[in-house]
Amino acid sequence: MARLVGDELEVPCVDGTDRTYLSLDSAASTPALPRVAERVQEILPWYSSVHRGAGYKSQISTTAYEEAREAALAFAGRGGRDDVAVICRNTTEAINHLAYRLRLSVADVVVTTVAEHHANLLPWSRLGVTRRYVEVDEHGMFGVSDVIASIDGGPRPKLLAITAATNVTGWMPPMTEIIDAAHVRGVPVLVDAAQLAPHRRLPADADFMAWSGHKMYAPFGAGILIGPRSAFCEGDPFLAGGGAVDLVDLDEVVWTDPPEREEAGSPNVVGAVALHAAIDALGDLGWDAITEHELSIAERLREGILQIPGVRVLGPPPDTETLAIVAFTVEGVPHALVAARLSAEFAIGVRHGCFCAHPYLVRLLGLSAAEMARYHDDLRRGDKRRIPGAVRASASLATTTEDIDRFLQAVRAISSGEPAAVQYHQDPRTGDYWLDGESAPWSTGDRSLGASCARG
Ligand code: ALA
Repeated sequence: MARLVGDELEVPCVDGTDRTYLSLDSAASTPALPRVAERVQEILPWYSSVHRGAGYKSQISTTAYEEAREAALAFAGRGGRDDVAVICRNTTEAINHLAYRLRLSVADVVVTTVAEHHANLLPWSRLGVTRRYVEVDEHGMFGVSDVIASIDGGPRPKLLAITAATNVTGWMPPMTEIIDAAHVRGVPVLVDAAQLAPHRRLPADADFMAWSGHKMYAPFGAGILIGPRSAFCEGDPFLAGGGAVDLVDLDEVVWTDPPEREEAGSPNVVGAVALHAAIDALGDLGWDAITEHELSIAERLREGILQIPGVRVLGPPPDTETLAIVAFTVEGVPHALVAARLSAEFAIGVRHGCFCAHPYLVRLLGLSAAEMARYHDDLRRGDKRRIPGAVRASASLATTTEDIDRFLQAVRAISSGEPAAVQYHQDPRTGDYWLDGESAPWSTGDRSLGASCARG
């Protein structure tokens, strides 16, 4: 339903043919919408320091930056509330920022779920706060009652930190009901909207919200943290430095008001402007049209892959509404090899591994404690050959039904045992598969880095 920058690029395949690249990795990161790229080109000549320059260009840049902040608040449905939008790098930074700012003590409780990606797990565990986790069933799902049981299962939590859509399966927990249930119990909610933001309207009732521009067609390094102004009025900010202060003496600092208090250092004006353009573009397409397109793609993807013998789909049962994301394994073919073959032989880009959501993958794959212990031992020896994982295909606004059919045909070829056109070998340091021989006409990537999808 939309074109993305780079859609028409061709990439080399192992048979010596160049093929149009098919990106099915938008859950990780999206290319830019043309309108975003155009807006970036427009602002670049006007780029200058914001908030602290007297020149004309500084005024233009400052206005553009502040308009982006307003657009982010409106995108999150924050009209009529005294909220602030902190412009940061991405969801990971936003949640780390919030974790610092809430000034929790180790006795404080945060309820979160095992379906989170690491950005919404590690900031809480690093703080050392008490965590209670909502578990998932064999489909990787939980219900409102599971969340309530966790909230009610001990001292009242200071926060419920929960994803609005998982990056692994595309499943969307019933967010409105969950937020209501938390609020009835006096618990504020952080919604990790990293996956949801480009796909569905954001849940306006959340107290805090975080998302990234690079997953919503604005890959210029800006993300958003939204929360009540009062949460940022006291205490020192996450980053200390210029722009966050009213007065500095060698022994004293007077922090300025939020949101500037939370944005020390020169901000990412271009990233903010890009994010604003993406918000405008999604607004013009409209949620109804976006949802309709994505549901049709999701259905074709899920129904198609379920019919391929030897493929196991992880996550929700077929009748569940999900984003156009599917995580799967192919019997007898390691996930890293499936991904390598899709790339080298079919010019299809997917992600494989554990998708920065290790606890969730462990559950979806049904791995035992003994298997996990073995993988840990392997890792300590620097051997990533047997790292568990899956393959994930994730669609974008640009994905067509023909793209899905092309992908399904490629998976069918691999799962049916069709021999690879070339020999691959696995690098034990990364777990990735590469072609035999240095001169193969395929990737020019740095093999020591690899796709390294096992890295999470
Ligand atoms: N959350 C990102 C992904 O799913 C990193 O790939």
